[in-house]
Amino acid sequence: MIDIDDSFLLECEEIDKDHAWLNQLAEDINAAIDENRPQDCAELSRRFVSLCKKHFGAEEALLKKIDYPDAKHHHEHHQSLYGKMDTILKLGEAAASNELARKSLKKEVFYLLMDDIINEDLSFKEFVHSINKAG
Ligand SMILES: [Fe+2]
Ligand SMILES: [Fe+2]
Repeated sequence: MIDIDDSFLLECEEIDKDHAWLNQLAEDINAAIDENRPQDCAELSRRFVSLCKKHFGAEEALLKKIDYPDAKHHHEHHQSLYGKMDTILKLGEAAASNELARKSLKKEVFYLLMDDIINEDLSFKEFVHSINKAG
């Protein structure tokens, strides 16, 4: 799993809190699989996806509020992750009875976190930080 250390913090409490919760849910999904409780994966995956969607909305509202110049690009990036979220829901359902689904679920959840937090969100870190300092 991703170790959310300080280098991943955007220094924006609302967003960092969401990322930490998403990371926790990803760890819970991993634990359910590793500890032989795959029947928990469906519910945990639903929670993970639902929090992701809520988080994307909150993040986009914040970027709009602070007039982030690339807000449209970030919105499109989030849109591109919706297909992955559907895959996670399906894998979560299948995990109880399918070994391959369990393996894929771990990977997909990890990639989604990587895509949102590491690849894309860090690109607006400096902007959010400069606004925080100014404000
Ligand atoms: Fe994002
Ligand atoms: Fe994010």
